[in-house]
Amino acid sequence: MEITYTTSAPLKSSADLLAIPVYGDPAADTFVKAVDEALGGRLLAQAATESFKGKAGQSCIAYPGDALPCGAIALIGGGDKKTTNAASRNIGAYAYKVGRRLKAENVALVLPAYTARTADSVGQMVAEGTILGSYKFSKYLSDKKAAEQPVASITIHGDRHVGKKSKKGGAPRTLKASVNRGASIAAATCHARDMVNEPAEFLNPTEVGNIAKAIAKKHASVSVKVLGEKECEKLGMTMFLAVGRGSDRESKLIHMTYKPAKKAKKVITFVGKGVTFDSGGYSLKPSGAMVDMKIDMSGCAAVVSSMDAIATIGSPYEIHVITACCENLVSGKAYLLGDVLTSMDGTSVEITNTDAEGRLTLGDALTYAQQKTKPDELFDFATLTGACMVALGGHTAGVFSNDEKLAKAWLKSADNAGEDMWRLPLTKKLKSQLKSPIADMRNSGERWGGAITAGLFLEHFIKDTAWVHVDLAGPASVSRESGSTMRGGTGFAVATIVEHATR
Ligand code: BES
Ligand code: MN
Ligand code: ZN
Repeated sequence: MEITYTTSAPLKSSADLLAIPVYGDPAADTFVKAVDEALGGRLLAQAATESFKGKAGQSCIAYPGDALPCGAIALIGGGDKKTTNAASRNIGAYAYKVGRRLKAENVALVLPAYTARTADSVGQMVAEGTILGSYKFSKYLSDKKAAEQPVASITIHGDRHVGKKSKKGGAPRTLKASVNRGASIAAATCHARDMVNEPAEFLNPTEVGNIAKAIAKKHASVSVKVLGEKECEKLGMTMFLAVGRGSDRESKLIHMTYKPAKKAKKVITFVGKGVTFDSGGYSLKPSGAMVDMKIDMSGCAAVVSSMDAIATIGSPYEIHVITACCENLVSGKAYLLGDVLTSMDGTSVEITNTDAEGRLTLGDALTYAQQKTKPDELFDFATLTGACMVALGGHTAGVFSNDEKLAKAWLKSADNAGEDMWRLPLTKKLKSQLKSPIADMRNSGERWGGAITAGLFLEHFIKDTAWVHVDLAGPASVSRESGSTMRGGTGFAVATIVEHATR
């Protein structure tokens, strides 16, 4: 599907479908009124018959006949005028879905006029939404009809916005730049979704390395290193290697670097949890909890895929992406409960639960990240705890940080990107849960505050670096489609990572 933009008048469009976002009462929208007049009042009459009130997810179809050059008209409900970026993105998805339902080859989409957001972010969000809404993981379906994609192109009409100043007084990005930006972010998000949805049998640590190499090959600004088990052993990454030891597939540490053309303003490092399958190890998960555990590399998918969009869009910063990839399995070689491991930074850790494996892989990855990249800002993304889902539900990521300024900046980036994130505390009192009688720490605490103790475990490995930990166990995958989010892997965090890295 191709996504383009134009500043020509949408009423002159000869697309198969003209999609018009409407916030609330359609009769109050001047553009809808103009279209309605051209149709001799049939559009608003149709809207009234169908009780179309411009609510999010609502749509209403009318056929103009000879009155207008387009084949059909769809009013797309946008909900409240004070819409969020996520809601603008959903409008793109709804427009695409109506186009698919009507088998429209070409869709013209009018950029929403009324919104609390600036025009350029709406252009970006709507473009993102059309692509995200068209996502389907269909490669293993033998019914090719299910994978059919009738919409060949979507043209975003931005004539009502061009040249308008953004709210803060800054010049808006041009329509072209914002649509292209949205398209790059959506492509990276879909790529992350593909990685998450791919079965672990294929999407194993070596394959993640190949994907990182393919991205580096596309961009002169990106390079990549893939370290095998021997090299990681030399670095002393004992915790990381212990988790992968039960698997026949080799663990891999993947390190991608983006260098800007000019001297970098700062160094930002993004670390992703890359457990390509989490059986729980000897603290084995019950089947129902294990069935979805190919998604345990969602953090890795987000950081690796983001690099593609960051390099396409360009950033003034030096950006590193690091992911320690392995499988947490059971075998005669697997790590055991009661084992004491010495981490890359010298901490000894008693294993009290082999299912608390993410923090072990991340502990060493964070040490590697600090020693090798000396970042000004350090982030990690991990499907780390079920407890975080219990705390915040399935659509919101937990954000933990040792740095007020960075935490604020990150949450602002999340808001701009239209992703739900919420700060949780690193309550010092809970640190006693991680005490061990025989080692410096143990790897699991008690039940209550599980997302926090996981964060506290990671914080132990942070030395004087501004750091943000994002627990995305909830939003990394969803069981139901809604708006621009499809069932399965969501590609969560890509939009915020790219936003934060390219501003
Ligand atoms: N990968 C899981 C967390 C998870 C659960 C992600 C559900 C996505 C959906 C993680 O490795 C894990 O098993 N965490 C344990 C920690 C506990 C053993 C301290 C958990 O949340 O139960
Ligand atoms: Mn686990
Ligand atoms: Zn896990």
